[in-house]
Formats: sequence, C-alpha cells, structure tokens
Amino acid sequence: MKILFEKTKLGNMTIKNRFVRSATWENMATEDGHMTDDLYKVYKDLAKGEVGLIITGYANIVKEEQPNPGMMGIYNDAFIDEYKKLTTSVHHYGSKIVMQVAYGGTKTTFNLGERTIYAPCEIAEKTTNVTGKAMTKDEITYIVKAFADAGKRVKEAGFDGVEIHGAHTYLINQFLSPYYNKRTDEYGGNLANRMRFLLEICSKMREQVGVSFPILVKLTASDFYEGGLTFQETKLICKKLEEIGIDAIEISGNIHGKANAMGGEVFDNHQIQEEGYFLEYATSISKIVNIPIITVGGFRNIKTLNKILSETNIDYFALSRPFLTEPFLVKRWKDGNIEPVICIRCSKCRTPERNFCTVFNKK
Ligand SMILES: Cc1cc2nc3c(=O)[nH]c(=O)nc-3n(C[C@H](O)[C@H](O)[C@H](O)COP(=O)(O)O)c2cc1C
Repeated sequence: MKILFEKTKLGNMTIKNRFVRSATWENMATEDGHMTDDLYKVYKDLAKGEVGLIITGYANIVKEEQPNPGMMGIYNDAFIDEYKKLTTSVHHYGSKIVMQVAYGGTKTTFNLGERTIYAPCEIAEKTTNVTGKAMTKDEITYIVKAFADAGKRVKEAGFDGVEIHGAHTYLINQFLSPYYNKRTDEYGGNLANRMRFLLEICSKMREQVGVSFPILVKLTASDFYEGGLTFQETKLICKKLEEIGIDAIEISGNIHGKANAMGGEVFDNHQIQEEGYFLEYATSISKIVNIPIITVGGFRNIKTLNKILSETNIDYFALSRPFLTEPFLVKRWKDGNIEPVICIRCSKCRTPERNFCTVFNKK
C-alpha cells in the first residue's frame, strides 16, 4: 500500500514524501532575475514545512525573454553561485529542489516594447492577443540550445533535477498545439512534427546533464478548446517522453484561474474535477506509462490525496496556491492537524509587488 509520508524515488532522486510544490512564480527576484532575501526565505520556509520536492518558479533561459516581472533567471553562469546557496539551504532541511526552466512566448503583456517574442507561427495568443515572430530554424536551434545550457547550469548549481515547462500556452505548448502551430516544415503538421521541438530540447538537455540527472516535463492535459491539442495527443506525447528517458511528467492545464467556473465540464471524454482539476487526465496517463506522474490543480484535502493514492497509479501531488497561504501545510498535516487547506483558490495571489496570499497571509 502506498502512503503519502514515505520515501520514494523519482529518477535517482529520493524524496521524503509525495508532496510537491508546483512551480510558482513569486515575483520576488530582481529585475534581471537574481535572488533576493525574500526569495531565499520562501524556499527555506517550504523546506522547513517539509515539502518533499520543491519546484521553483519558472526561470527564463534567455535574457531577452521575460514573460513576467520578478521571475528567476537561469540564462547565464552568473546565477550558479546564488542558486548553490539556495539548494544548500533547501537540502539542509531534507527537501529536494528542482528548477523549472521556460521560454514564455506570446502569453504575456509584460514589457512588450520592441523586443522580439518567438512563436511557432504568427497567430495571436488567445488571451493576450500578442502575436510573436514565427521562428526560423536557426532560432529554433538557438532556443533548444538555451534550454540545454540552462539544464547544465541547474545541475551545476546543485539542484536535484530540472523541469521543462511545456504547459500553459507557453512556447513549447504552442509548438505542440495545432491551433498555434501551422508550420509546414518538420516542426509542424502531424503530432510527430509538432513534438519535435520539445523532444529536441529534452535530448539536448540530456546530453548536457547526463543520464542520471532527473528531467521532468510539465504538460497541458489538453488545450481544452476546439482545434487545440487533444488529450489523445498528450497521451502519445507522454509515451514518447517515457521512451526517451524523461523521469516524470506533471499533468496540468491552462484553466486554473477559471477552474472553479469550469469544474465539471467534460473535454476529450474526461471531466475537469472540482478538486484535482486534471485528476482524470493524470490517472489515465498513469495507466499507460511507468514513470511517475504528478497531478496538480485544486487539491485541498489530505483525505482526497490518500484516496487517489490508493486507487490510481499517481505518485505525487503538487500544490501551488495553498503553499502561498501555508508554507508549513505538509508539516501541519504530518503532525496530525488534517484540516483542509486554508486557501480558497481565489487566485488573488498575483499582485504587482509580489505574489503572496492577499487574503490570509497579509504580511
Ligand atoms: C502565483 C502563481 C504563479 C504560478 N507560476 C507558475 C510557474 O512559474 N510555472 C508553472 O508551471 N505554473 C505556475 N503556476 C501554476 C501552478 O503551478 C499550478 O499549476 C496551479 O496554480 C494549480 O495548482 P493549485 O490549485 O494548487 O494552485 C502559478 C500559479 C500561481 C497561482
């Protein structure tokens, strides 16, 4: 029988329990992505709070592309020493830490100005209406290399693994999506072509980090709209990722801001859940691959997690907003107070100054 508070292996990483802090951009780094005392404290608290695996907020892999203010950077070697301090601090409390690396793309309205934003094609992003520059093959090679180099830095800085952000309509998700990717070269068209960009990133990164360094991928279960990436396709992508040696997959979606409104809707024959929005999708994937599956989105109750653990092949539970309210949540549950999370999922945690729980944690 699987239990929440047991040691598990994700690739070569031993994690002390099945709780994951899902990547959460804190808006606390300096303008060019460097660490601040406040940011060190966020991670120290999560580690003290006994989160088994902490995934950092997304870090940009090239300096010129920053989809949001205050996000961490990993675009050159100058970051390595400060992240060594971060990983040492987290390891001191027995937690593991993985850095999420990302290229944002057109899902942004931040600092648009003159900068060039890459996209698979010149198709406006649905929510921001921003149109990017259709990438040339040289630009694709440049970004693939930037991801791989970022992976190398992540390893050098003492992180326990790296997560590639392939979800939430960011650049990799756009390449996967037939809505955004209408390319006619080998990076567009059928699914094998649409996943080529992601697979090249994975394999180039693997060359840089070696066989035993865990690489995780965060994916969108489905684009959840007509003409977008379907769940059937995501399942095939997951099979392929397993085949090429990816160590774990986190199944998400692009709906969390409006998830409460969407709860109960059926897409691709699976239902968005009230608690654990993408649980049906993650469960389905966990049946067809043997690598660990992390489920994320709207979890509140430890009882629910225990039930899922006993009934599915899902291995890990990731939470984001609840840790903004209660960084010590895992410890609280472990110590016997199993009340549900305090977070009410209002998503008021994004503020222009920094991201924090504006409702219960006003400091
Ligand atoms: C303030 C905030 C920042 C986020 N930043 C990221 C991020 O950097 N990378 C990412 O993949 N997801 C990000 N997410 C999404 C979360 O990782 C998670 O998938 C989503 O919030 C659903 O989980 P929850 O219901 O436990 O909050 C962010 C969410 C919030 C609320």
